[in-house]
Amino acid sequence: MIAIKILQADDVEQYREVRLDALSRSSEAFGATYEEEAERDIEATRSRLQSLPHQFVLGAYDQEQLIGVVGFKQEQGVKFRHKGFIWGMYVKPEHRSQGVGRQLLHEAIRLAGLIEGLEQINLSVVTSNNAKALYESFGFTSYGLERKAMKQNGTYYDEELMKLTLPIRRM
Ligand SMILES: CC(C)(COP(=O)(O)OP(=O)(O)OC[C@H]1O[C@@H](n2cnc3c(N)ncnc32)[C@H](O)[C@@H]1OP(=O)(O)O)[C@@H](O)C(=O)NCCC(=O)NCCS
Repeated sequence: MIAIKILQADDVEQYREVRLDALSRSSEAFGATYEEEAERDIEATRSRLQSLPHQFVLGAYDQEQLIGVVGFKQEQGVKFRHKGFIWGMYVKPEHRSQGVGRQLLHEAIRLAGLIEGLEQINLSVVTSNNAKALYESFGFTSYGLERKAMKQNGTYYDEELMKLTLPIRRM
């Protein structure tokens, strides 16, 4: 039985361990590198876990063990805050293909949908990544392609830009 929870500042050590696991074992899927994250001040990481109305990081727990994460952040500029983005989606390899990623994404979209004024969730995914099928199954559609979005060790990676339009809530 998997439980999905909003991570809090106190969860920073466990979160950091999973985030570093993500960047070492799935480095091609993410914009940040293992080295950047390893050198990052723990307080900066802790501040990401400050669960505010406009941002949160969700954790998937198998018993006490954190096995997956996903982040969401609403844009803050006046002209941009109808939008937010999903980032840092990761499930540890030994727990994949059991619906954990689906549960994380479902809860992230549900919570984002409660934010007043939020109309659209964006994300980007490396074109060769099979996570694209997961996003499409939630209704995300592609609105663009950024060629050479990332470069690592001389290799370029294209990114698909995807969006999900949320139903407008009547107050
Ligand atoms: C993407 C990821 C989070 C999915 O997590 P997961 O727990 O395995 O996902 P689920 O079990 O909920 O699977 C959901 C869908 O993802 C796709 N998927 C998951 N694992 C897959 C695999 N090994 N091969 C092909 N498709 C796969 C399928 O479309 C699946 O749909 P289905 O359940 O109808 O078959 C996980 O594979 C991961 O951490 N990958 C590395 C990091 C990454 O790519 N993150 C996304 C960055 S944009």
